[in-house]
Amino acid sequence: MLIRTESVSHDHDGCPALRGVDLVVARGERVVLLGSNGSGKSTLLKLLDGLFEPDRGAVFYDGRRLDRAALGDRDFHRRFRREVVLLFQEPEAMLFHPSVAEELSFGPRQLELDDPEDRARQWAERTGVAHLWSRPPTDLSRGEKQRVALAAVLVLEPRVLLLDEPTAALDPRSTGWLVDFLQDLPVTTVTATHNLSLAPELGDRAVILGEDHTVLLDGAIAGLQEDLDLLRRANLVHRHRHRHGPHEHSHDHVHDWD
Ligand SMILES: Nc1ncnc2c1ncn2[C@@H]1O[C@H](COP(=O)(O)OP(=O)(O)OP(=O)(O)O)[C@@H](O)[C@H]1O
Ligand SMILES: [Mg+2]
Repeated sequence: MLIRTESVSHDHDGCPALRGVDLVVARGERVVLLGSNGSGKSTLLKLLDGLFEPDRGAVFYDGRRLDRAALGDRDFHRRFRREVVLLFQEPEAMLFHPSVAEELSFGPRQLELDDPEDRARQWAERTGVAHLWSRPPTDLSRGEKQRVALAAVLVLEPRVLLLDEPTAALDPRSTGWLVDFLQDLPVTTVTATHNLSLAPELGDRAVILGEDHTVLLDGAIAGLQEDLDLLRRANLVHRHRHRHGPHEHSHDHVHDWD
């Protein structure tokens, strides 16, 4: 097992974020993390990235518990930071260099990889941000920032990609590009999204966090869209009114486009 959480519970300032979460992810799996606003998706991804320790329970990477001792162990820490990366929900939280070029070469330089500049250029090309090379990331559009942030983690050529709503700011063409791109990458992914219609393209297994911050479902994505009762319980169905000329009616929506 590459990633494992054992009865993980966490609060933020007394605010419940996760309750008793057991999750096992094998090498090469593609897991889609679903759940309503505040259900705990970002908290779970940050715990998997070792950014903090859970209040209760434990997180393991490749058999090693992610505790203070592991992350304080120079060799393990370096390996973990290279192999496991998190694309934050807010790309701004990841971009703090004066140019895209420096943004992309920072990670490789910090991890003392060979030819940081060449790696940066190569990944800028592959992720379609080469034309932004000299621009300050703070000036970019939200979608451009999201792509640059993605390039800045991919440049490490990780084994595990933790993606927090990676398509949230992308236009339809960029979303299509990202889905295709991820399908071709030989990595393990855990992707949080609100986009139910995209979920089957992002993985074959769904983990749904409920509003009580527990795992409501861990199973196949196939058929999920038909399980309206479950989706309603997870608050993943939206209901709103339609107007058709003078007529108005209301019904549940699962697809993002209807
Ligand atoms: N830094 C923080 N300080 C205080 N409370 C926090 C913090 N981060 C998250 N929370 C709370 O923890 C709970 C889980 O938040 P989290 O961001 O993990 O949810 P989420 O599923 O990612 O939501 P969204 O879909 O809106 O991104 C929420 O109630 C949130 O208000
Ligand atoms: Mg979130």
